[in-house]
Amino acid sequence: MSNQFNRRQWIRQAGIGTAGLFVAPTLVHAKAEKAKSKVWNLRSSVFELATPKAPIRTRLLANENPYGPSDKAKVAMMEAISSGNRYQHEDAGRLKALLAEKEGVTSEHIMLGPGSTDLLEKVALTQCLGGGNVVSADPAYMALIKTAKAFSAEWRNVPLTKDWAHDLDAMYQAIDDDTVLVYICNPNNPTGSITDAAKLKAFCRKAAKKTMVFVDEAYLEFLDPSDQISMADLIAEGHNVVVCRTFSKIHAMAGLRVGYMVALPETIEGITAKVRDNMGLNKSALRGAIASLEDTSFLENSRVWTKETRAFTFDSLQALGYKPIPSYTSFMLFPLGMDPEIYLDQMFDAGVGVRAFQINNEPWCRVSMGTMEEMEDFIRTFKKVVG
Ligand SMILES: Cc1ncc(COP(=O)(O)O)c(C=O)c1O
Repeated sequence: MSNQFNRRQWIRQAGIGTAGLFVAPTLVHAKAEKAKSKVWNLRSSVFELATPKAPIRTRLLANENPYGPSDKAKVAMMEAISSGNRYQHEDAGRLKALLAEKEGVTSEHIMLGPGSTDLLEKVALTQCLGGGNVVSADPAYMALIKTAKAFSAEWRNVPLTKDWAHDLDAMYQAIDDDTVLVYICNPNNPTGSITDAAKLKAFCRKAAKKTMVFVDEAYLEFLDPSDQISMADLIAEGHNVVVCRTFSKIHAMAGLRVGYMVALPETIEGITAKVRDNMGLNKSALRGAIASLEDTSFLENSRVWTKETRAFTFDSLQALGYKPIPSYTSFMLFPLGMDPEIYLDQMFDAGVGVRAFQINNEPWCRVSMGTMEEMEDFIRTFKKVVG
C-alpha cells in the first residue's frame, strides 16, 4: 500500500459500511477448492477507500433510485403523518397481508423490518448465537456476514466463478454440521452479476435439507420481468429458505426504511421469541410501501429507465476501453486501472460521488445508476479524470 493510500483511512469492508457500499472480498476467478482442503475464515482482501467529504451534485454511491418515491407513495405518507400518534401494528398487518398475497404465502410467513438490513442482522444474530459457520460467496454483500462474525461465527468465503456467478457446487461442499446459514445474494452486490435461477433453485432444495439458505433478492426487480425468478416459492413448498426483499431499491424508498423477508413461520417465531417484530417500523413508511406496491407504472418506469442508463454506462465505458462486469442491477463494477485515491479525490472535486475499492490489489470503481443526465455527467467527468 502506497504512502498515499496510508494517508487516507481505508475502510475494511468486513467492518464498516452503509447501504449499498457494504461489499467485500476477494474477486478471485479461480474455482474454489473443495471444502475439506480449504482454509476458511480468510481475511478480506477488499478494502474500500473512505469517500471524500466534498459536496457532490451527482450522487452515484449508494445504489439509490433517483426516480422516486412514487407520487402515490408520497401522498400516502403525508396523509399518514396525522395518525402518527397511533402505533403502526395495523399498517404492518396490512402490508404483510399484501406481501403474503404477492409471494403466495400466508402473513405468518412474512416479517417486516426497517429496511432489509435489520432482517439480515436479526437472522445473523439469532442463527449465530451459538457460533457455527456461515457460507457465502466472495465477494458478497457483507451486512449479514459482519453480524455473524461478531457473534463468533466462522465465515466460509467461496470465490465466485469466472463469469461472476455463485459457485454452487463449492458452496455445497463448504456446508458441514456446524453451518448455521448459507447466504446468497442474487443478483450479487458488489458485482451486479446473476446466478442461474434454475441452478440456484436446485441448490436451495438440496442445501436447505442441511441448513438454512438465505437468499437476498434486493435487486431482483431490476431484471426483465420474465427473469425475475424468486426463491420464495420454495418457502411455500416448506423448504428451510429465507428470501429477503427491500423497498429501498426499485421502490426508491431507501431513506424511509422498509424491507421484508419470507420465511417458514417457525423461523420467524424463532426470531420474534428473541427480538420484537414491527417495533422499528413507522406508519408513514408502511403506508408509503403499501401505496408503492400498487403503483406498478412507477415500478416499471424505474426498471426500464435503469436498464437504459445501465446500457448507456456499459457502452460508454467499453468505448473508453474499460471492461465493466455485465450488471443486472442498479449499479456497475469495473476495473479502474488508476490510483483509486487520486480517482476518488478528482471525481468528488468535480462533483460526482462514486465508490472505489482495492480488490486483490487492483483498483475497481462501483458506480450506481442515476438518471440519464447524471450518467452523462459521470461519463463526462470520468473522461476528464482518467485523462
Ligand atoms: C444486496 C443488498 N442487500 C440488502 C441491502 C440493504 O438495503 P436496505 O437495508 O436499505 O433494505 C442492500 C443495500 O444496498 C444491498 O445491496
